Amino acid sequence: MAHQWRGVIREYIDRLPFEASDPIVTLGEGGTPLLEAPALAKLLDVGNVHLKFEGMNPTGSFKDRGMTTAVSKAKARGAQAVIAASTGNTSASAAAYAVKAGMTSVVLVPAGKISWGKLSQAVAHKAQILQVKGNFDDCLRLARELSDNYPVFLVNSVNPDRLQGQKTAAFEVVDVLGQAPDLHAMPLGNAGNISAYHLGYREDLELGRIKKLPRLFGIQAEGSAPFTKGGPVAKPETIATAIRIGNPASWDLAQAAKTDTNGGFGAVSDKEILWMHRFLSQETGVFVEPSSATGAAGLYKLSKQGELKGLDQVVITVTGHGLKDPDWALKDDRGKKIKPRKVAAAAVAVAGLLGLEKNR
Ligand code: F0G
Repeated sequence: MAHQWRGVIREYIDRLPFEASDPIVTLGEGGTPLLEAPALAKLLDVGNVHLKFEGMNPTGSFKDRGMTTAVSKAKARGAQAVIAASTGNTSASAAAYAVKAGMTSVVLVPAGKISWGKLSQAVAHKAQILQVKGNFDDCLRLARELSDNYPVFLVNSVNPDRLQGQKTAAFEVVDVLGQAPDLHAMPLGNAGNISAYHLGYREDLELGRIKKLPRLFGIQAEGSAPFTKGGPVAKPETIATAIRIGNPASWDLAQAAKTDTNGGFGAVSDKEILWMHRFLSQETGVFVEPSSATGAAGLYKLSKQGELKGLDQVVITVTGHGLKDPDWALKDDRGKKIKPRKVAAAAVAVAGLLGLEKNR
């Protein structure tokens, strides 16, 4: 029988705090493509660029890697309900894994600030969804307070079980490249992901699977950029709603990731994010949600400043699928809605609109 990918816990069980006899709640997450992107290598003027396409996870974002570990541990501890604060993707993932585990889920999202694709997932997986009159930071504060005082189990990335699962993305990059890249960039929000990659690459270094750590770069949206500002932002704003976060929970871990790897933090405007969102769709064939284009947008900015000179291997994680938040793809550069033309159901009419001349 053909081998089927078994999800990150079973695939990496010797490198995770699990035994084969533990309850394992999986939807087959991980094993996502690492795609060569020569158009991006050319744009950034570096040797090679690979995109780690995390939108190919079961619920369409990288969150599933940490959700399998967090929900599995919650089950082992007898939890019956999980709770998560979310800008959308964590809620979609928590809701799906809770169904798989036979648990209920509660998700707290900032009112009016999550994409309908993500909301539809939480609804489909019958989460109890509460729209909080506040931002993500308020939602996380509430989720922590509730899990401290009520029988609901917190599955945000402040739960260390989440990072354990998420670190497997670094393992997969090394499995494919046979080494660490020179630089690895990603969008930066609550800072769980950059912390998890740091953990994963560090473990690979200690095991001798890689000879050096990649420089880790986390890129934020300018209106929600506590790391480049040097402290919390009270009213974060950006069209990249997934990373609309002003007070990142994993602040210290992200600082350690930066220092330990000689990495960096950056920030890009919404305009730069949307430009890269389109570039990825049109030049690499990879459709991501706008937030997910932030890592590549940040590197493009650094490249224009001459900061990427001489780099050979670059990896960029694109964190979520384009179908999560498709509205932006349907707008032109001026924000006008793109409407495909209508045509009569006749070949000659179609050819006419396409400007095709008949074969001789
Ligand atoms: N990209 C996407 C698509 C995300 O959904 C998130 C975070 C990030 C990047 C940033 O990752 O928080 O680990 O630094 N989304 C969280 C959520 C906050 O609730 O879905 P991070």
